[in-house]
Amino acid sequence: MEYNSSDIEKIIYKYIPTAKGYQQELLAAMDYAFKAGGKRLRPMMMKLCYDMFTDMDEAYDETVIGPFMAAIEMIHTYSLIHDDLPALDNDDLRRGRPTVHVKFGEDVAILAGDGLLNYAYETAAKAFLVKPGDLGIEKAFVTLTGKPGIYGMVGGQALDVSMTGKKLTNDQMEFIYLNKTSALIECSMMVGAYLAGASEDIVKKLEEAARAVGMAFQVQDDILDIKGDEEKIGKPLHSDEKNDKYTYATIYGIEAAEKYVKEMSDKANKIISSIEVKNNEVKDKLTRLINSLIDRDR
Ligand code: IPE
Ligand code: IPE
Ligand code: MG
Ligand code: MG
Ligand code: MG
Repeated sequence: MEYNSSDIEKIIYKYIPTAKGYQQELLAAMDYAFKAGGKRLRPMMMKLCYDMFTDMDEAYDETVIGPFMAAIEMIHTYSLIHDDLPALDNDDLRRGRPTVHVKFGEDVAILAGDGLLNYAYETAAKAFLVKPGDLGIEKAFVTLTGKPGIYGMVGGQALDVSMTGKKLTNDQMEFIYLNKTSALIECSMMVGAYLAGASEDIVKKLEEAARAVGMAFQVQDDILDIKGDEEKIGKPLHSDEKNDKYTYATIYGIEAAEKYVKEMSDKANKIISSIEVKNNEVKDKLTRLINSLIDRDR
């Protein structure tokens, strides 16, 4: 991958609470899920979108972007814990380890998801105190509350679970992918730009680019569910088939799906190339990151 996940981890791990006190098991489960080693794509994209519009000559200030990067990864990690639960996809492997409900029990896994979701907002809200009255932080926070919610990620998951075993119309499939997956990627890119003080026009374009990245990302995820390497993806193969889920790849076939991933990634990069930024090297990095996702194997 273009950017180093461990660079991102150095920043976001600072915000995870230590497991102690009566709620120790809950905190240990949150820590276990968070530190299991994902690709860190969302905080990575957030940071790139922040850096694109930031004056890098001045002393780099992480006190605002850091909490938001940790927050988006906490929200994403919570979504994975709940997605794996027996009532949803019932999967027992995630990020190369037993899922949280397998390791800690279903009760703790549900609460660890709740804990990460709430702590994400607790963490990001601290940025308000760093720069009181900053409109960029306010817009970023509103975005961080909306995109993961009922008109975003949770809404997409809701249609996804209700369509189990049923063939999707194009409209339904688009709704599911745009919400369950694109929404958090849109959130990441928009938050980064807002925090750096980018204009509404620019953020709109980034949202549109992220929508395409998310579609490509989910279709590639569906492809990997069919023909990936379990060792590499760190989750069970054929989860969709087991759960009787129709996906882009099962409806249109792998070849069409691969073509679609490339098309959507190109679309995203075309939009990004039209945006005027402060740091063009960072923009190139973002473009390379998006391209590297086209044939990702994990
Ligand atoms: C998995 O996301 C869930 C989807 C939206 C497809 P990632 O593939 O980004 O998972 P991690 O964070 O790398 O584990
Ligand atoms: C779920 O999609 C995306 C989420 C919002 C968690 P999948 O169910 O395909 O994700 P994986 O394959 O389990 O990571
Ligand atoms: Mg799922
Ligand atoms: Mg799943
Ligand atoms: Mg999947």
